[in-house]
Amino acid sequence: MHDRIALTLNGEPLALDPATEPTQTLLDWLRAQGLTGTKEGCAEGDCGACTVVLEGADGARRPVNACLCAMGQLHGRAIRTVEGLRGDEVPRALAEADATQCGFCTPGIAMSAWAWAREGGDPHEALAGNLCRCTGYRPILDAMARLAHDAAPAPAAPVVGSACFGTGFHLPTALAEAIALRRAHPDAWLLMGGTDLGLRLAEHRERPERVICLLNVAEMQGVSADPGGMRLGAAAPYEDFLAACRADPAYAPLAPFLARLGSRQIRALGTVAGNLGTASPIGDALPVLVALGGCVETSARDIAAEAFVTGYRRNALAADELIVAIRVPRPPTGALVAAEKLSRRHDQDISAASLAALVTFEGAAVASARLAFGGMADRPKRALAAERALVGRTLDDAAAVAAGALLGEDLSPLTDWRGSAAWRMEAARGLLRRLALRHTHPDMPHDIFALEAA
Ligand SMILES: Cc1cc2nc3c(=O)[nH]c(=O)nc-3n(C[C@H](O)[C@H](O)[C@H](O)COP(=O)(O)OP(=O)(O)OC[C@H]3O[C@@H](n4cnc5c(N)ncnc54)[C@H](O)[C@@H]3O)c2cc1C
Ligand code: FES
Ligand code: FES
Repeated sequence: MHDRIALTLNGEPLALDPATEPTQTLLDWLRAQGLTGTKEGCAEGDCGACTVVLEGADGARRPVNACLCAMGQLHGRAIRTVEGLRGDEVPRALAEADATQCGFCTPGIAMSAWAWAREGGDPHEALAGNLCRCTGYRPILDAMARLAHDAAPAPAAPVVGSACFGTGFHLPTALAEAIALRRAHPDAWLLMGGTDLGLRLAEHRERPERVICLLNVAEMQGVSADPGGMRLGAAAPYEDFLAACRADPAYAPLAPFLARLGSRQIRALGTVAGNLGTASPIGDALPVLVALGGCVETSARDIAAEAFVTGYRRNALAADELIVAIRVPRPPTGALVAAEKLSRRHDQDISAASLAALVTFEGAAVASARLAFGGMADRPKRALAAERALVGRTLDDAAAVAAGALLGEDLSPLTDWRGSAAWRMEAARGLLRRLALRHTHPDMPHDIFALEAA
């Protein structure tokens, strides 16, 4: 006897047929139900045509990519699709502002706009995950400007416990249960937000025999903070980390960087734990954790963030070890905290090169520096010689140039289609100079486009 996937769809509670394939994507399932308003553009989280909204128990309304969500991971969640906007002001505002031409992107844009009208924030940021090829964004932004803020509560999501769907999609709710499942099934996929693994379902049409989805494990929930620092539960999505950074001045300098990680849709699903699990040399989370001296709390031990990635897409986890949380120490008062990313597009793009830094001072001189680069080696890595070169100096352009000349001692970037090794080295030197500029010009706008416009 298999469990049924329970979810609330457009306000209506549903218990799905036990035969529902749990690794099927939400997008495919919706369209098979005749709910064809949700479109497939890219099937890889990039275009936003498939955007639906997760309506959280906490009242949060977050857009997500239906093409990346496995049905099993939606057990206990409430979802709104464009069919749930009948009679709503959003479609009317889009039509009245002439914000739709061919209309293919419009359902996804309507969902992002609908969530934005409830969650607020920067409207440009709200649209970064929605590609419109023909209308242009001005009329879409005009339509959004007409929307009234709506604080109506989200519908109740079903209350659920541990479950197993189909022949092997497990959704444990306790850490001990998750570890036991992992030991019994060492080849199972460990699924969190699915913004990496979901591509294998949607784009490559893989169907794993067994999945252990960790999203509901109690010990992995939430973001908390104390004077020592922040603790990110492994299941906490980036949007929660970003909100916590925006609310705390010590971490606020990280917020513009995190706001460029994927799109709102990606950040509502993706997690720091998943980024560490992937162990990509261009993942955005690890340089930040390494610079701030972070620590990965696993089911067995604590691992310094710096020692977590052991090589190209390899990490230090044992076969039965799970990431439970990530600890990010509070930067000392007066320290310079910065994170910079260079990518081919400003939004919704993976880094070609990145730098996260924590610099402390004694008077005007640098007392200590931690410089962690992404995209500059087979893993995110510190530039130790450059760090040493900064100590004792005033952090100005000359010091940054001198330190930049030493980057080759620790970093050896690859050439790939995001950039050549030579370009990456020059870019990393530029990022160091930008760090000095942030120190000497603390009011400099973070966004480089804002800088150009100023
Ligand atoms: C359109 C798009 C844009 C993106 N933009 C960016 C970007 O700007 N910057 C960036 O860095 N990344 C980006 N990504 C990649 C992705 O969003 C991140 O790597 C994300 O952090 C993955 O987290 P997840 O929870 O979705 O992981 P999942 O896909 O669920 O899992 C990823 C890996 O981590 C493992 N894992 C997950 N949780 C645990 C755990 N608790 N213990 C042990 N192993 C675990 C899984 O087994 C898997 O191997 C993007 C992806 C897409 C599709
Ligand atoms: S279909 Fe393009 S983001 Fe899902
Ligand atoms: S209206 Fe055609 S893609 Fe946006």
